[in-house]
Amino acid sequence: MGLKLWTHCNVASMQADADQPYGLIADAALVVQGERIAWVGPRRDLPTELLARCSEQHDAQGALITPGLIDCHTHLVHGGDRAQEFEQRLNGASYEEIARAGGGIQSTVQATRSATPAQLQEQAEPRLKQLLAEGVTTLEIKSGYGLALEPERKMLQVARALGRDHAVEVRTTFLGAHALPTEFAGRSDDYVDEVLSMLGVLHAEGLVDAVDGFCERIAFSPAQIARVFDAAQALGLPVKLHAEQLSDSGGAQLAAQHGALSCDHLEWLSEDGACAMAAAGSVAVLLPGAFYFLRETKLPPVEMLRRHGVPMAIATDCNPGTSPCSSLLLMLNMACTLFRLTPEEALVGVTRHAALALGLGDRGVLAAGLRADFVLWDVQRPAQLAYGLGANPCIQTIFKGTPR
Ligand code: NIG
Ligand code: FE
Repeated sequence: MGLKLWTHCNVASMQADADQPYGLIADAALVVQGERIAWVGPRRDLPTELLARCSEQHDAQGALITPGLIDCHTHLVHGGDRAQEFEQRLNGASYEEIARAGGGIQSTVQATRSATPAQLQEQAEPRLKQLLAEGVTTLEIKSGYGLALEPERKMLQVARALGRDHAVEVRTTFLGAHALPTEFAGRSDDYVDEVLSMLGVLHAEGLVDAVDGFCERIAFSPAQIARVFDAAQALGLPVKLHAEQLSDSGGAQLAAQHGALSCDHLEWLSEDGACAMAAAGSVAVLLPGAFYFLRETKLPPVEMLRRHGVPMAIATDCNPGTSPCSSLLLMLNMACTLFRLTPEEALVGVTRHAALALGLGDRGVLAAGLRADFVLWDVQRPAQLAYGLGANPCIQTIFKGTPR
């Protein structure tokens, strides 16, 4: 098979051990064989025998090339929107008050349950297309607005269908423990039984890549989440958790004890939680869109995460209630302006660390042997990706070695 060569580019390889910031390689060459990277490095070092095998040559015209972006936390598939709740909040109601009064997640559950699979997919497509236009090549999609077997299955099937119909890899996460459905009011432990039974069925149908939960006063207790995680582990599925978003309930420690891939949100994370995450190798997925949209004031403890060496990822949390956003580039900017990440930390957060948060060792970095998922950007320096507000300098995306 002939090889494909890209030259006239600068490559931000995002390699952890590179001596340049962003793993930057000036005047680089990148060689692709099939769906994998065969070689990447300074053009002058490109072996001549490899060059001779390149049957397709691409002039990147000075573009910056980064790994394909990875959105590692989304609720992309959901019915309806919550603009009305946005108005209520601007008139003084809090997110928690609305949730306790039966609005919030429950209203999206109703809209999701009543939508057909085709309608759900149709509503998700524009969001997905916006992400793809910004160079996203892998994204995670959660269930969690069905809260019963049939609609949870429907959500996961739509997520899988999106991955089949578009040049993007979709990783599915079962989030049955997202909220207590109204039919289980006052019987949350019974609902957790139901979550365990749904998990068994949906896993057997091949619809689940990972398991998530919402550990919070308005959702599930650590003890309840522990039951879900034990069941996930018995099936060999990795876990992750919406933890310490609105309060510190010790969710991060619990998730870390279960070897969680990631703990997400984390505004109220304690030092003990950060230690536990560092020991377990769990990624801290920071979600600046939700912080911004809920007008939170409690910042995630970024300095503490750095001190403990907890890897930080950034994601959209694309959902109708707390982050109606399908721009990962905007999240890069907000991670810097609101959370004070450096532009390099932010870019690592949507590439190398986002891959880690999904347990994917074959991407997020540009290196020989890894997946040929990469993006050509019309920027001079990598910091411009986090700098623009609402800008999209993406020129072209290559997914599994093929331009899309
Ligand atoms: O990630 N925190 C819980 N779940 C979502 C929001 C769900 C909703 O309000 O619809 C989140 O912020
Ligand atoms: Fe979320």
